[in-house]
Amino acid sequence: MASLEDLIPTVNKLQDVMYDAGIDTLDLPVLAVIGSQSSGKSSILETLVGKDFLPRGTGIVTRRPLVLQLNNISPNSPLINEYQDIHGQNYDTSDTKGELTLEDHLRKSQGFEPTTKDEWGEFLHLPGRRFYDFGEIRQEIENETARIAGKNKGISRIPINLKVFSPRVLNLTLVDLPGITKVPIGEQPADIEKQIKNLILEHVAKPNCIILAISPANVDLVNSESLKLARDVDPHGKRTIGVITKMDLMDSGTNALDILSGKLYPLKLGFVGIVNRSQQDIQANRSVEEALNNEEIFFTRHPVYRTISTKCGTRYLAKLLNHILMNHIRDKLPDIKARLNTLMGQTEQELATYGGSGIITKENRAGLVLQLMNKFAARFVSSIEGTSSDIST
Ligand code: GDP
Ligand code: NA
Ligand code: MG
Repeated sequence: MASLEDLIPTVNKLQDVMYDAGIDTLDLPVLAVIGSQSSGKSSILETLVGKDFLPRGTGIVTRRPLVLQLNNISPNSPLINEYQDIHGQNYDTSDTKGELTLEDHLRKSQGFEPTTKDEWGEFLHLPGRRFYDFGEIRQEIENETARIAGKNKGISRIPINLKVFSPRVLNLTLVDLPGITKVPIGEQPADIEKQIKNLILEHVAKPNCIILAISPANVDLVNSESLKLARDVDPHGKRTIGVITKMDLMDSGTNALDILSGKLYPLKLGFVGIVNRSQQDIQANRSVEEALNNEEIFFTRHPVYRTISTKCGTRYLAKLLNHILMNHIRDKLPDIKARLNTLMGQTEQELATYGGSGIITKENRAGLVLQLMNKFAARFVSSIEGTSSDIST
């Protein structure tokens, strides 16, 4: 899978432990995509999430920031049962998961993706309404974009907030942003370029933001607007990943080897070449999975990229992101452990004053939690060391 699923069990376990000990969340980094118009920003996010739901296409499509909060829920989550209560149905996810209802079959025959009822989206501007159909989510993003930013290519800095709940996503926030443009069109003001740049900077200036700086392979890298913007907020290139899209659209006889190897532009996290779905693929309703397989075939069979194909493609990008998130969590472990130690010290003192020992109270669970935590940390570190060899950071 190209999504960030691999980390789910690890992060969930850690978050459970932290929750039990009353410690705040992990505060994972936010991922933001930046780049010129139609460079493939929305396409990449969609593939990383593994769902078709973002408006994409030629021209200016993303006109408001989309702040997408992914929320992992277990298949037995009370959130899912809540659905049962509201709808008065005996809805058992373990039975129906993966199976299509009659309604799904009908929709499928009309070209819609089948929906499973254990994942859905919710918009901040439509509280309480659940979207089980990701095609409808896309429609709502388009409607809500037009509502605030108008129908004529206007841009608004007011974000659309969307939460996706699913057992198959990592707790993570992604930001899709309007593309950098030079020339005003439609209702756009004369200073559109400046406005969009400020809007982007608002999101990527935060130090906990990982920047996916997109540059299309068919445009000269020295003109890359995304790399220029990223350098403004991340001058040492520590939290910027260079993403080269449209690798399939380069002129024949040219290639991006120098860029991908970092010879043209230094970034600590490196560059990744990508082939997203083309406009034709969008029109033909090519699925995320199909697109990923085609992308892999492109790189593994390419006369030039074949030799570096394990470090190309969306699947590799997801792996790289996983690795960065793992390191982020690892950096936080000493802090978390220190907090747990303090907590345990306090608990022991309390137990002593009551003269009790061996009684399991809510408080002395912290001791158990710390043991868990130590075990977890040991396993976690070894798992990172096990994976670090195949990532070049
Ligand atoms: P955004 O404006 O940066 O969000 O770009 P989109 O994701 O909306 O993509 C813009 C257009 O470029 C769409 O028609 C995509 O199908 C197409 N596109 C994006 N990436 C690629 C790619 O890697 N290869 C090809 N052939 N087309 C792409
Ligand atoms: Na576009
Ligand atoms: Mg877009």
